[in-house]
Amino acid sequence: MNNFHFHNPVKILFGKGELSNFKDEIPAGSKVMMLYGGGSIKKNGVYDKVTEQLSGFDVTEFGGIEANPKYETLMKAVEVVREKNIDFLLAVGGGSVVDGTKFVSAAAHYPNGDPWNILAKGDVAGIVNPLPIGAVLTLPATGSEMNGNSVVSKIETKEKLAFGTPLVMPQFSVLDPTVIASLPERQIANGIVDAFVHVMEQYLTYPVNAPIQDRFAEGILSTLIEEGPKVLKDPTDYDSAANFMWAATMALNGLIATGVPQDWSTHMIGHELTALHGIDHARTLAVVLPGVMKVMLANKKEKILQYGAKVWDVTKGTEDEKVEATIQKTVDFFESVGIQTRGADYELKEDTVSEVCQRFEQRGVNALGEKGDLTVEKVKEILETQL
Ligand code: NZQ
Ligand code: ZN
Repeated sequence: MNNFHFHNPVKILFGKGELSNFKDEIPAGSKVMMLYGGGSIKKNGVYDKVTEQLSGFDVTEFGGIEANPKYETLMKAVEVVREKNIDFLLAVGGGSVVDGTKFVSAAAHYPNGDPWNILAKGDVAGIVNPLPIGAVLTLPATGSEMNGNSVVSKIETKEKLAFGTPLVMPQFSVLDPTVIASLPERQIANGIVDAFVHVMEQYLTYPVNAPIQDRFAEGILSTLIEEGPKVLKDPTDYDSAANFMWAATMALNGLIATGVPQDWSTHMIGHELTALHGIDHARTLAVVLPGVMKVMLANKKEKILQYGAKVWDVTKGTEDEKVEATIQKTVDFFESVGIQTRGADYELKEDTVSEVCQRFEQRGVNALGEKGDLTVEKVKEILETQL
């Protein structure tokens, strides 16, 4: 096992009723900005419950954060934060709202010019006095509620970039699984696949004799496979919703990443597909991951065989047959929850492949993957196999 430091200070308030039980987590006297998305919270009762918790605070609302949150929109929130001396941010929504809120927190008092530098130049060291954040999660998927990552898009340049720092980890996150009841099927399916691929990025690399991390990872994958379809069938099934929600959080809160190599190439390539074509994040992952498994097989073979045996019970046949069956099981699972896995399903063509490769070349991204040997040439191969 590799050395690691692990510190996750996010307090989780989990369960039915917690939406109406978090006001004491916000420091008394705070000037709060409540940030939310396109309005789903006004239809499903979450808005009413949250504003009830905020009565007694000086509250400014900022709605309209888009899926794949936009820098241009978030900078408007930054202006209001500065004007009104806001000192606490409450994100109410899915990963996009939580990520957007993290950017606002980091940008509010950023001293080195345009806060886009935090992403484009990787200037997390420049962040000063980030605003404390609380989150009320309405969509299990990203793990943003319990990590320090944020992904933001810039319309002007069609870029989608990420930054990560413990400075923007929420102080607390409210996970009330009853919020899942109002989710459209499409978003539930996205959440299942996104969480699944988060585990794969941290698990499907090469063995370092870390059986605890491996078993946690396999446990999360099996839980998503068992509980995900139940949530799709009946999002009001509380027990399944609770298991799904906690699985998605555990998939990306740092725990299963401890002491093991990580990949993240599927996400890096997927982000380009969203930036260029607006494809939902999880759907890009479902296209790219099978390609990564095929093209990077030499690096991943041992873990693919382990994953096949432990998660899918693929134990018969030659090694090559087992690898093929395991990749097919993964594809079938994504398709079974309604997420298509071929580029053609999203009208992706050869010109997109060239464009993605060109962007990586321009940014000097040429050493992805757990071994740093996933070159631009390999990115091309991965996308071409999946067209
Ligand atoms: O905007 P509203 O009206 O709220 O509607 C949203 C949005 O249209 C809707 N929704 C959310 N909760 C709902 C609901 N509708 C009904 N009932 C509810 N309870 O769902 C739509 C999608 O929401 P969004 O927040 O965009 O989805 P998700 O949570 O999947 O977040 C995706 C974003 O997170 C980034 C992605 O790149 C993408 O930008 N990621 C963040 C990560 C992180 N911070 O660690 C890691 C991930 O890999 C990912 O990259
Ligand atoms: Zn993801």
